[in-house]
Amino acid sequence: MMSASPDTDDTVPIAGCDPAPVSPESRPTLGLRSACAADAAVLAALHAPCFPEDPWSTAAMATLLESPGMLGLIATDTDYPQGFILCRLAADEGEVLTLAVLPAARRQGIGALLLGGALAWVRRYRVATLFLEVAEDNEAAQALYQAAGFVAVGRRPRYYQRGTVSVAALVLALPVPDLGSDP
Ligand SMILES: CC(C)(COP(=O)(O)OP(=O)(O)OC[C@H]1O[C@@H](n2cnc3c(N)ncnc32)[C@H](O)[C@@H]1OP(=O)(O)O)[C@@H](O)C(=O)NCCC(=O)NCCS
Repeated sequence: MMSASPDTDDTVPIAGCDPAPVSPESRPTLGLRSACAADAAVLAALHAPCFPEDPWSTAAMATLLESPGMLGLIATDTDYPQGFILCRLAADEGEVLTLAVLPAARRQGIGALLLGGALAWVRRYRVATLFLEVAEDNEAAQALYQAAGFVAVGRRPRYYQRGTVSVAALVLALPVPDLGSDP
C-alpha cells in the first residue's frame, strides 16, 4: 500500500510542488529550491561533470521529474545552480537516485545541505527507510552519507562499469529514528 503521503493530506509528492527549505543563516547566498520538469536541462548540465562516465540526458531527467513520488531539490548560490538531489518515494521507502555538486563548488557544505533538505522533505511523507547506492570507491560520498547516519546494509558486486573496470556498489540505509538528525 502506497503511504508516501504527507502528514497533512493524501497528495502523492511531485517534484516542484513542495516548498523547499530556506537558505542557511551562515551563508545567505546559498539556497535550495524544488526542481520541476522545466529544470530537466539544468539537472542534466549539473549531472554531466559530476558523472562523466554516465551522464543523464535532459530527456531522462524530464522523465524522472515527471514521475510520481519524485523529489528534486536544486542548490543555488546567488541563484546559480550548484548541485541537486533526486529522491523517489514508494510505499514506506525512499531512495536517493542521485546527488551531485559541481566540482568547483564542493567542500562548501552544499552536498550536506541538499541531503538535509531531502531528509526534511522525506520525513513529511512518513518514509520508514531511505536507501541509496554508492560506489565502493567513492570516499567523498560515503563520508557525507555516514555523517548523515546512513549505514551499509548490502553490497552489489560489479554494479558500476567504468570502461573495462567494474566497481561494487554499497547499499546504504537510513532508518526512521535517524531521520531526526539531519547532517
Ligand atoms: C559527494 C558530493 C555530492 C559531496 O558534495 P559536497 O558539497 O562537496 O559535500 P559537503 O561539502 O557538503 O561535505 C559534507 C561532508 O561530506 C564529507 N566529504 C565531502 N567531500 C569529501 C571528500 N572529498 N573527502 C572526504 N570527505 C568528504 C565530509 O565529511 C564533509 O564535511 P566537512 O567538509 O565538514 O569535512 C560531491 O563530492 C559530488 O558531487 N561528487 C560527485 C558525484 C557523486 O559521487 N555523488 C554521489 C553519488 S552516490
